[in-house]
Amino acid sequence: MGTKELEQTLVLIKPDALKNSLTGYVLSLLSQFHTGLRFAGAKIVSVSMVLAEEHYAEHRGKVFFPSLLDYITGLLHYPDEPWKRRVIAIVYHGPEAITKLRDIAGPTNPHIARETRPGCIRALGTVVPIKDATGNVIGERMDNLIHASATNSEAEREIKLWFKPNDIPPLMHAYPVEVSKEHYYSKDNKLYMTYEPDSICFVAPGDVVWKSDLDALRLLYQGSPAPCSLESVVAKYLINI
Ligand code: RTP
Ligand code: MG
Repeated sequence: MGTKELEQTLVLIKPDALKNSLTGYVLSLLSQFHTGLRFAGAKIVSVSMVLAEEHYAEHRGKVFFPSLLDYITGLLHYPDEPWKRRVIAIVYHGPEAITKLRDIAGPTNPHIARETRPGCIRALGTVVPIKDATGNVIGERMDNLIHASATNSEAEREIKLWFKPNDIPPLMHAYPVEVSKEHYYSKDNKLYMTYEPDSICFVAPGDVVWKSDLDALRLLYQGSPAPCSLESVVAKYLINI
């Protein structure tokens, strides 16, 4: 796709929004009536650490990264109720989807959102201090209710990370797909094309796969550099398993 008319973007309704019963409110603000955008796909995801790390890979190494992972996986909001740790992942489709959704979400920091953009979704979020083992404040966590892709290339990476082609109706596919003719297995973060004891099959013949994922798997299998990691492909095909 790539043209403004046919843009797609990934929205995540984060665990704090679910915990605060804001899901319906958020979905209303994002409705076709308000945004002119349509659903292309939606799913409820139990976010694994691998998926969380891949989604927020650009923040690896930052002081808030560990607490960001605990936040998006739902550990922080549901420490004792693992079955409630969920994120609602939605692909929205339509003209200028990326800028529209970023605009309705508002600034990353909920304090700034409240000051500068009252009425945006993130104005309803909170900022929580992050402390080290001795109780010193070393940073802050921003519980900001919603994620929205920032650019076209981020949207493509993120939609392909959270959604398999079959999660989206074929006529709404924004990126090329291919039917796998091969098996792909993973074990201890290694890739195999024949079964190894204790490995997991994540792609089988007949599966509809993003073409870029199959291209990456072929490169990784040959030991060549690939544009994405094995974890990022495996994380998606094993979502909710
Ligand atoms: P998002 O990816 O969640 O839509 O947020 P964003 O584009 O507005 O902001 P980004 O820089 O991508 O940050 C991703 C998430 O990391 C947390 N964050 N904390 N303490 C900090 O300085 C800081 N910076 C970012 C937020 O939860 C943010 O949503
Ligand atoms: Mg971001």
